[in-house]
Amino acid sequence: MHLGIILSFLTLAGTGLPLKYSHTELANWIANNIVGFRAAAVLHRLAATLVFIIFAVHLIMLLYKRFVKKKKGVFWGPDSLVPRWQDFIDFFNHIAYFIGAKKKPPKFGRWTYWEKFDYFAVFWGMVIIGVSGLTLWFPEIFTKLMPGWLINAAHIIHSEEALLATGFIFTVHFFNTHLRPGAFPMDEVIFTGRMTEEAFKEERPLEYEKLTEEEYKARLTSPLPLWMKRLFYIAGYTFLGIGFILLVVIILGTLI
Ligand code: HEM
Repeated sequence: MHLGIILSFLTLAGTGLPLKYSHTELANWIANNIVGFRAAAVLHRLAATLVFIIFAVHLIMLLYKRFVKKKKGVFWGPDSLVPRWQDFIDFFNHIAYFIGAKKKPPKFGRWTYWEKFDYFAVFWGMVIIGVSGLTLWFPEIFTKLMPGWLINAAHIIHSEEALLATGFIFTVHFFNTHLRPGAFPMDEVIFTGRMTEEAFKEERPLEYEKLTEEEYKARLTSPLPLWMKRLFYIAGYTFLGIGFILLVVIILGTLI
């Protein structure tokens, strides 16, 4: 799913941004040499459809887990991605640690507060970017229900929120998953589902402390073959590179 989100997000950003900055020479160069505006519009809609499908499948899987499999703790609890009061406390304690006001960082469990933030960014992104995008895609339907100025508003909302989303992903998210000490050169757990025992004990002490010896042993697995690891790194760094290029395009597009 993350791979699907990466591919669709990079396509959406790569095809949307030249349109946003279509007044610049750079965007016109991209349109003439890499992807024309008409092709970009088609690709943008295809990638948007992929995001909607992934989002729907994810929601269905969550509901299935909770209500068919009767799994507890999906929507609330230490193993859930739903934020709790403790996440706000962790956030402030972490900042205090960064500025030297606390000696030790907070202890994290299954999910950290920044992982929950990243996860929910997709949810509000779907509401804000998704709904405004659909309004731009199907203006005839939306203006049957609402006034015409809504299209102008949807355009501004879509454009600015897209800028915020790309700016956030290509700086904060990339820092957290690639450049942060502890993650460098790449936090591969999203693709492999595995981390070293040392990293698990150090980064998720609360989750580790909760496990019985049997539960811990049941989680142990062999490392991935080297070729697969290399493949993940090549893919990860290719996406990182594309993101950084788009970030430079955003900065140039804003300055020019
Ligand atoms: C997920 C659902 C989305 C839908 C349905 C959607 C749809 C659209 C549509 C219909 C347009 C008008 C341009 C055209 O006709 O080709 C547009 C423009 C644009 N989209 Fe999206 N989009 C979506 C997501 C995104 C995302 C995730 C990003 C960026 C990360 C993005 C960035 C942009 C940008 C920058 C523009 C140009 C806005 C401007 O002209 O200022 N879109 N989108």
